[in-house]
Amino acid sequence: MDDSNRVIVEAWNTVLYDKFCRFKHLLVEGLSQHSEAAFERCRYPQGARVLDVGCGFGDSTLRIAARVGPAGEAVGVDCAENFIRAAETQARKDGVDNARFIVADVQSGDLRGPYDHAFARFGTMFFEMPGAAMRNLRKALKPGGTLTQIVWRRREENPWLHEAELRVREIVPVVSQEETDQVHCGPGPFSMAGPDMVSTMLHGAGFECITFERYDCDICIGGDVDEAIEFAMALGPAGEIIRLAGEEGAKRKPQVIAALRETLTTFARVDGIWAPSSTWFITATNPA
Ligand SMILES: C[S@@+](CC[C@H](N)C(=O)[O-])C[C@H]1O[C@@H](n2cnc3c(N)ncnc32)[C@H](O)[C@@H]1O
Repeated sequence: MDDSNRVIVEAWNTVLYDKFCRFKHLLVEGLSQHSEAAFERCRYPQGARVLDVGCGFGDSTLRIAARVGPAGEAVGVDCAENFIRAAETQARKDGVDNARFIVADVQSGDLRGPYDHAFARFGTMFFEMPGAAMRNLRKALKPGGTLTQIVWRRREENPWLHEAELRVREIVPVVSQEETDQVHCGPGPFSMAGPDMVSTMLHGAGFECITFERYDCDICIGGDVDEAIEFAMALGPAGEIIRLAGEEGAKRKPQVIAALRETLTTFARVDGIWAPSSTWFITATNPA
């Protein structure tokens, strides 16, 4: 059994799961804009069997289940058991019968194919060996099946993550993933931002007809600036720098809060803190 993602899986099942629970309201609401726009484009037909990759709380899996109807099936896969248990609880609560959830490492696990399509909303940027994961995904698709991924574009176009990271880097000593024994999230949110690298990787994994569509929208990162600061200090590259710095990170929190207040206030609107975001919708087809 390939355990190259062991540290990453542990991070997603523990510290990152806890942080995602804390900010679930912002994440689910904010990221649904992207998935709804992507669903309008992929239009999964009634009766299709669709895999939701790195499904997290499973809200997009449940939306897919509604689209494919009772004759179809949506399967959410995640490496973190805690996310899968939360997704199962939500599906039961909502009375959804055609959604199923499995715990597996997408890079090497049995994904229980074959699927007509696979979908991922920000679920494919954290693999230690992304090429192997893409190959494993392709093998789980029927001939002619498609993979649609939503990933962040370059960091400069996502200032809510990048500017927070730059401010934190000025204040907190950066400890690299290799220098620490702490669990970490893996390659990170911008690891699939480069179309040349990603299209080469997808070709290498056996996909064809690879397309990139840019999709931009503003997202709410806090009801007010205090919440936006908490959010930035918990998640994304800024949050990871603070966490991996341990005591040094904790000690510098007052300075970080002051710096982030200055930066994030620039995104304030009457209805909260809204920042521009930019993504790729990447589609790829398993050859027929
Ligand atoms: C940024 S979250 C996105 C969650 C969800 N798709 C959403 O949009 O809210 C990334 C997800 O990928 C999962 N993940 C990371 N590495 C994985 C792997 N190797 N196999 C399966 N899931 C993985 C994490 O546990 C996490 O739920």
